[in-house]
Amino acid sequence: MASAGSDEPDDDNEPGKVRVEVVDVEGGGQVLIAVRRDGSPIDPMDLVAKIEGAEPTAYAALAAQWHDLSIGQLRRALTAWLREAGIEDAEHDSRRILETVLKPYQLNAVLDASTPAAWSIPSEVAEMAVRRAAREPLSQIIGSVGFWTLDLIVTRDVLTPRPDTETLVRAALGRITDRSAPLKILDIATGSGAIALALLSELPNAHAVATDISPAALEIAKANAARNQLSGRVRFLETGWADGVEGRFDLLVSNPPYIAPEVIATLEPEVRDFEPLLALDGGQGGLAPYPHLLNEARRLLNPGGHALFEIGHDQGAPVLELARAAGFGSARILADLAGHDRVLAVHN
Ligand SMILES: C[S@@+](CC[C@H](N)C(=O)[O-])C[C@H]1O[C@@H](n2cnc3c(N)ncnc32)[C@H](O)[C@@H]1O
Repeated sequence: MASAGSDEPDDDNEPGKVRVEVVDVEGGGQVLIAVRRDGSPIDPMDLVAKIEGAEPTAYAALAAQWHDLSIGQLRRALTAWLREAGIEDAEHDSRRILETVLKPYQLNAVLDASTPAAWSIPSEVAEMAVRRAAREPLSQIIGSVGFWTLDLIVTRDVLTPRPDTETLVRAALGRITDRSAPLKILDIATGSGAIALALLSELPNAHAVATDISPAALEIAKANAARNQLSGRVRFLETGWADGVEGRFDLLVSNPPYIAPEVIATLEPEVRDFEPLLALDGGQGGLAPYPHLLNEARRLLNPGGHALFEIGHDQGAPVLELARAAGFGSARILADLAGHDRVLAVHN
């Protein structure tokens, strides 16, 4: 054992003084444990301060309160704390935070409260809880989200893919008569890559071009393609909308930014303060991208090809007009599972 905790080694001899030690673990790795010379109870604040090597932070104080709870007690405490902090679905977020933190641990390390490895659990949970109470989206805290059948990396650089967008994926797939065909897909404003990757996962011989104006978003999209073994069938392009894209496509999809600028300030803090403005701001009426996207559909769709665009719940009527003005007489509005207008569908 090597002492790692105190700047002044003499203090370690004071009865009751907490010392943090680094212990080599069989099979490799090290853990921190706390010991007290006289066996008296450890003040968790003291312990946390030592391990943090600094004054207790907001989350360290919380971790100290939670450090000797069982996992079940920790879950209840976390749920109650998040609820108190005003988080709407505290039960759900609590479960997801615990799943994330517990995932790397061996089951017996988690269940045996005396195992030192379990010591870091309340600390990790508390850090995530404090971030969530500050209204950071759960997806950004956890670092990923489920979309369609995929698990996608999420950071502050991309919009978190929403269940609403699965309506667009479902509608696009519904328009494909032969799923094994070598289809060409264009996803404009791909963000995390969600739509293109979901479609590729269902269309084994399809290839996609996916554009975005944000290089940071494209990095995440590339990582998501690799994570889901789809890199070989998608090419990412940093450009405005479909500028510079040539050729013809069977399927053109896009979930552009469609929030009116004056509405952004009224959104939930999770969206307003943590998601990229570039992914939200749709210009006047939130409608600015659509004329451009519809013109690109005219230019880039194969005969018989389909284009689907996500829209805001109150944008059905104006986008239908825009579609007709762009020469798509057969334009339709499709509803999401909640019955709200969600997708503009046109075809060549
Ligand atoms: C609402 S997000 C959609 C992300 C993803 N397609 C999804 O459904 O989750 C809109 C995306 O549009 C991108 N974007 C904004 N303006 C753009 C432009 N002029 N050209 C290309 N992409 C743009 C943003 O960077 C953002 O990634």
